[in-house]
Amino acid sequence: MFGKEVYIGRRKKLAALMHESGKENGRGIAVFLGNTDAPQNYRGNDYKFRQESSFLYYWGIDEPGFAAVLDLDSGDETLYGNDVDIDDIIWMGPQPSVASKGEKAGVPHTAPYAEFFEAVRNARKSGRPVHFLPASRYYNTMMLSEIMECPAENIRKTAPAYGTRETAASLELTRAVISMRLVKEACEIEEIDKACEIGYLMHTAARQACKPGVKEQDIVGIMEGVTISKGWGVSFTTILSQNGETLHNHSHHQVITPGRMLLIDAGAESNTHYASDFTRTLPCSGKFTSKQRDIYDIVAECNELAYSLAAPGVPYREVHMAVAAKMLDGLKTLGLVNGRIDDMVTEGIAGLFMPHGLGHNMGIDVHDMEDLGEDLVGYDDDQQRASQLGLGSLRMARRLKPGHVITDEPGIYFVPALISKWKAEGTGKDMVNYGAVEQYLDFGGIRLEDDLLITEDGCRRLGPHRLPISADDVEAAMA
Ligand code: GLY
Ligand code: MN
Repeated sequence: MFGKEVYIGRRKKLAALMHESGKENGRGIAVFLGNTDAPQNYRGNDYKFRQESSFLYYWGIDEPGFAAVLDLDSGDETLYGNDVDIDDIIWMGPQPSVASKGEKAGVPHTAPYAEFFEAVRNARKSGRPVHFLPASRYYNTMMLSEIMECPAENIRKTAPAYGTRETAASLELTRAVISMRLVKEACEIEEIDKACEIGYLMHTAARQACKPGVKEQDIVGIMEGVTISKGWGVSFTTILSQNGETLHNHSHHQVITPGRMLLIDAGAESNTHYASDFTRTLPCSGKFTSKQRDIYDIVAECNELAYSLAAPGVPYREVHMAVAAKMLDGLKTLGLVNGRIDDMVTEGIAGLFMPHGLGHNMGIDVHDMEDLGEDLVGYDDDQQRASQLGLGSLRMARRLKPGHVITDEPGIYFVPALISKWKAEGTGKDMVNYGAVEQYLDFGGIRLEDDLLITEDGCRRLGPHRLPISADDVEAAMA
């Protein structure tokens, strides 16, 4: 937890932003629900607790069973939670009081959890807007649906609070929260750097363990052990597979085989719940074949190009497009595509090889704030999400600002089902050399990912150390 002044300052700023968006209906209350414990299959055997990220951001408390209300008219702040009783103490040991937890977050008032429902009901009865964020966990969705007396699906979508305030999450609150969480504070960047250091150690351990005959699952265990011993755990389910062409491959049953490549996309979550997210692709035998190296070098150049272009004022969508052009240029040299680069970019040919976007926001969540709405988070008001394969999956298109934290993760994949679909449909038939592409059906995929902080004059890679990335450096590290 940061010092209380961090949370006090954030809530003040949020209230000020909400005042700016306030209208004649009055400002109302902003409601924050923390997460509850989630049983795996019987109560008492819960999943590891993870706090709701916006609750953590504004109220700092990293425990289940809390809610909070920010009164936008009076400025009052109240934290709701229950003090432990003797049964809790027997199982969990003595616990600090709710009041002392509130004190750590600079919250002046605390009350038992049941009074939270009263506070929301009273606000609604007196016709005051009740602002809440779109919920992602089912428990909170159902609870909000009950207190707001509206269908559960409305709890997960946003609409302007004034006018439709009783039927959907508040667009005003969601926009205000996004605008704050997008620009990371110095104390947050310090935590992301720590998460990146743990991520570096995870990937280093994985690279050292990657030897023919070892099971993929053994490497997953080694990597995850690193972050469990140094931080909170993984920032998302580890992706580690010799079938790297499956973008999010969570099956780890294969044995490391010479001649193949191992794609590892994994990151750490620090004890304060900030994420890192790195991808490296390793030659299983320690050396790339020349065919692998040709593709690898293109991806490494794309990663470097994105890093060189990411700077304040530049829309990340443009960086994605520049990477698509670079990738097609490299693939053209290898004879896999042909035509004018600009035409191929316009036609979306890069999507055949990179069916995902260049990157996403990262912070308290690895795909930061996507629970609040992917387009609200990743797109400026004057930007439209595309429908093309690849570009349509771009999760961060915004004009970059100092303090943004984003990933730079180009990749080239040969997905047999996608290649045969495009070929059968005749998609890009004048630009894709399908005969040549079919020589790569057993190639797999390569992705190379770093985490970037946008600075005043460009960007820097997060974390004190960078994982080896050039083909030569990777081979040297594996020798
Ligand atoms: N690292 C997984 C992802 O970005 O989707
Ligand atoms: Mn990522």
